[in-house]
Amino acid sequence: MAKQARSSRPAPRDRAITSALSKWFRSAARDLPWREEFRARRDPYRSLVSEFMLQQTQVSRVLEKFEPFLQRFPTVGALAAAPEQDVLAAWSGLGYYRRARLLHACAKSIVRDFGGVVPRDVDSLQELPGIGRYTAGAIASIVFNRPEPIVDGNVCRVLQRLDAKPGSASDKEVIAWAWERAESLVKQCPNSPSQREGAGGGRRDADVATPATFNEGLMELGALVCTPAAPKCLVCPLRDLCLAREQGLVDEIPAPKARAKRSRVYHDTVVVWRKTARGVEVLLEQRPATGLWAGLWQPPTVESATRTRRTLKSLLAELGLPASAAKVKPREWVFQTTHRDVCFRVWPLQLAHDAGSPRRWCEEAELAGVGFSNAHKEVIALAR
Ligand code: ADE
Repeated sequence: MAKQARSSRPAPRDRAITSALSKWFRSAARDLPWREEFRARRDPYRSLVSEFMLQQTQVSRVLEKFEPFLQRFPTVGALAAAPEQDVLAAWSGLGYYRRARLLHACAKSIVRDFGGVVPRDVDSLQELPGIGRYTAGAIASIVFNRPEPIVDGNVCRVLQRLDAKPGSASDKEVIAWAWERAESLVKQCPNSPSQREGAGGGRRDADVATPATFNEGLMELGALVCTPAAPKCLVCPLRDLCLAREQGLVDEIPAPKARAKRSRVYHDTVVVWRKTARGVEVLLEQRPATGLWAGLWQPPTVESATRTRRTLKSLLAELGLPASAAKVKPREWVFQTTHRDVCFRVWPLQLAHDAGSPRRWCEEAELAGVGFSNAHKEVIALAR
């Protein structure tokens, strides 16, 4: 059950926060393709896709991929009916491919369990694959103007600074505090769902703070003004309400998080290519269904947990590829994911070899349509 909005009157400072932020958001928000300001209300499917894409990915990268993805899958039904490989290919470049699979599963569940209509309440939204508390709150509030809180790293930082709450934004106690604070603020936004729901978050009502404008304002302020380093306090719409600023603590809050140790893995990758009458083809294999870059394609690769000196001869034997007398000097290159360094040794090799299952030859011109990680795009470019 969704919790009821509080009936008590908002505290004056909270009221000032929600209205100043909403006012600022209406005038300063970036014009992003999933923010259709002047439509009667947001398209839930577009918002759903944008929220999945924006999980752990920068807006600039999402901007490149968002419209092509929607052109390829214009409706939730089209996405649900598409083969997984097509979804992964359209996701290519956004990283964290597990999200693409979850979005696909989410679309299938919306079609199967909700008659193809994106649900409005956070409880139903959270039943869908890939939708946690944040994404459910974002869709319920931004699309349907429900007074539901959202907290991610950006929002946590903004709230911590506003209230001079010490601690790291990754600390469990701080995160629990931030959800409570976000909830009490959004529930004080004057237009309750019964008054305004579905009316585009009241975006045209210039003076009114709505759940939609307040929540998206929090996200936007964290992204543009209340940044982790060098926040732009002088232009902040909440500067006179910010306790961290008043107490000179903006640079101390939030505290830096304890760094987890990065791990390393070693990939020996042979970029095998051959010439055909139609051009050049590259040999590919599919990665395992779980783990890093699950299910994506890559040139044949041997992975090790420690640095292992291999010759081309031993590598080809390990991969079950025919021996070659070519003299190849591998190129070394490190790709950083969030938690690990993938140390590549890239071996370019021309070979007239019959791929055989489970590998396949792929024409160079068709590589763009294959589900690849950014790392493997770079690996192929390195070898060419
Ligand atoms: N990050 C997550 N959701 C977002 C949104 N709707 N706009 C901008 N950045 C976001």
